[in-house]
Amino acid sequence: MKSNMKPIMTLRHISKRFGATQALDDVSLDIYPGEVQALIGENGAGKSTLIKIMTGIYQPDGGEMRLDGRVIRVRNSQEAQGYGIAAIYQEPMVFPDLNVAENIFISHRNFGPIVRWKQMYRRAEAILGQLDVRLDVRQPARGLTLAAQQVVEIAKAISLDARVLIMDEPTASLSAHEVHQLFQLVDRLRNKGVAILFIGHRLEEVFEIADRITVLRDGKHIATHLSHEVTTEQVIREMVGREVHEFFSKTSAQWGEVALEVKGLSKEGVFADIHFEVRRGEVLGFAGLVGSRRTDVGLALFGIEPADRGRIILEGRELQIRSPKQALEAGIAYMSEDRRQLGLVLPMSIATNITLPTLKRYLNGLGLVRRQKEKSVAEKFRERLSIRAPSVETPVAQLSGGNQQKVMLAKWLNAGPKVLILDEPTRGIDVGAKAEVHQLVDELAEQGLAIIVISSDLPEVLSMSDRVLVMREGRQMGIFHRDQATQEIIMTAAMGQPQTVLEGDHE
Ligand SMILES: Nc1ncnc2c1ncn2[C@@H]1O[C@H](COP(=O)(O)OP(=O)(O)OP(=O)(O)O)[C@@H](O)[C@H]1O
Ligand SMILES: [Mg+2]
Repeated sequence: MKSNMKPIMTLRHISKRFGATQALDDVSLDIYPGEVQALIGENGAGKSTLIKIMTGIYQPDGGEMRLDGRVIRVRNSQEAQGYGIAAIYQEPMVFPDLNVAENIFISHRNFGPIVRWKQMYRRAEAILGQLDVRLDVRQPARGLTLAAQQVVEIAKAISLDARVLIMDEPTASLSAHEVHQLFQLVDRLRNKGVAILFIGHRLEEVFEIADRITVLRDGKHIATHLSHEVTTEQVIREMVGREVHEFFSKTSAQWGEVALEVKGLSKEGVFADIHFEVRRGEVLGFAGLVGSRRTDVGLALFGIEPADRGRIILEGRELQIRSPKQALEAGIAYMSEDRRQLGLVLPMSIATNITLPTLKRYLNGLGLVRRQKEKSVAEKFRERLSIRAPSVETPVAQLSGGNQQKVMLAKWLNAGPKVLILDEPTRGIDVGAKAEVHQLVDELAEQGLAIIVISSDLPEVLSMSDRVLVMREGRQMGIFHRDQATQEIIMTAAMGQPQTVLEGDHE
């Protein structure tokens, strides 16, 4: 990074209000070519809103943007494209029925209506080659991994000569290996002089990739640092405005009787012979690399994708779980990792969403919903998980991504299940709230809930769990006690060295 560089894009005094929410308040920012700038802040700080203004999805209430020193107005995404401003989001927006090359060139006017196929494939190959990526350009997008879909989106931006590339939480659903590959790609783009704005919640990644770090809080610009001149602790303080401890250490709860027992659970071609038990008060972590099929086990226990063999025994009673409804009735709740399938009813309020699965509890004698009770329950969660919203009556559609996720979590916590399965519970959640989630899970365990936490964040699994079950390609590699589980041991098991199963030590 060169310090005498001129910014390619400058934002000055950008403001944006949504009703009662001042999403952005007088934000100024300089974006430099050949540099990665991270934009960080708590859920609802205004990061995505700023990006949507830069890409023409929203119009600012005030302020100006300049590109190469000239004032620009970006009224829609076509205009953003024309200026060379491109954004890729956490969930790529590729068309599954089109192939890789078609996806890359979909927004090029000169390729329609008569597509010059040969030329298109050659150019697609050239772009991927430039990025040092090996992907078959004739392959349909349908079968691509999320990481590969992101690569297609980046290639698309490059094909449009993007000079400013914005990435909104691109690593949220990637494995460590994929993150590494994405960062190599980002590095190449930086070397080519592209200005990159990177949004992320994992600070290790931010410090690894960014040259410059900008912190937003409550819609305001708090600080911009060169990343080698600032510490993690300092940016956390700036993001949160108070002291937070990034790492949490579990209290050892008293375990009760066995809540859930799983024996020989198998699903043809997906996973085989899964065998474990979780006691009341226990947190059992599920670790493994992406593709280890941890989520599939969760989906089977919740009846979304039922298993075809094996036994599921809840409090001594064998269950036949064929649907989520049956699972919920039996007392098993599952929070999905997939943000697109959060199962929230977007036009409805926070309060309604939280109480939806347990609506019966809020009905009065006439069968009408007791709004006051519903509200006070929602209020409790809003405070506890610091859900940022004007009130619990706010429609979920108006919340930032991370805050929607917190509503989802509140919904399942409030359902009061016997066994709670949390799949990537803190992905996309800011540092401050993450600590709250860990604390809350700890308290729920103390109250006697049996909890399964699936997480790709190894330090998180290790700090939250009493025991950790490690999976690899649908097989169970071992179960480790927290005292024995180190990152190395878990990784070794996840990568294929079978370990002695230590399950049952506590009996
Ligand atoms: N369309 C909208 N209508 C009403 N309020 C909105 C709308 N979009 C965003 N907001 C509000 O603006 C604020 C900033 O939201 P934004 O999505 O920019 O946050 P963010 O920093 O991207 O958070 P996250 O890390 O959770 O993605 C939030 O309080 C959000 O509820
Ligand atoms: Mg966002």
